[in-house]
Amino acid sequence: MLSDRPMADADLPAVMRIEEQVYPHPWSRKIFHDCLRTGYECLVYEASQEILAYSVMSAAAGEAHLLNLSVHPQQQGNGLGRQVLRRVIQRAREKPADTLFLEVRVSNQVARRLYESEGFNEIGQRFGYYPADNGREDALVFALPLL
Ligand SMILES: CC(C)(COP(=O)(O)OP(=O)(O)OC[C@H]1O[C@@H](n2cnc3c(N)ncnc32)[C@H](O)[C@@H]1OP(=O)(O)O)[C@@H](O)C(=O)NCCC(=O)NCCS
Repeated sequence: MLSDRPMADADLPAVMRIEEQVYPHPWSRKIFHDCLRTGYECLVYEASQEILAYSVMSAAAGEAHLLNLSVHPQQQGNGLGRQVLRRVIQRAREKPADTLFLEVRVSNQVARRLYESEGFNEIGQRFGYYPADNGREDALVFALPLL
């Protein structure tokens, strides 16, 4: 059973261990620290007191943005990502936000499939948004209407 709670500074070593394994260009510890300090909704998801996933969302003026959604590499493909995404959507609704936005790498087929299957629509593209090994990679912008 996956339980969620707010991320704390003390979680950052465990979060960074996951972050550095699942992204070729991971967020730095400072980015997570700044998200916590800014008051973004940073959550960790645990089973048996082990962090298996985390999410970072900002919400203001009726708009919510999912900034990070990650599942431990050995736990991927077991439905956790979908479970976490559904909780994020629920929390965005409760803010209340009328739309949940996110960006995803064009090459991230797994995440794209997940977002599309949860009702997100592709609404745009940001050229060269992400660093990549051979230059830059485009982001697709997805939006989920919450009303
Ligand atoms: C993307 C991510 C969050 C998905 O979480 P997950 O727990 O692996 O995914 P789930 O098991 O919940 O599966 C959700 C859907 O993703 C897709 N999917 C999952 N694993 C897949 C795979 N190996 N191949 C293709 N599609 C896959 C499927 O559409 C799946 O739905 P289905 O099981 O009904 O077919 C996770 O893989 C992850 O952390 N990846 C690295 C970080 C990342 O890319 N984050 C998203 C940034 S925008």
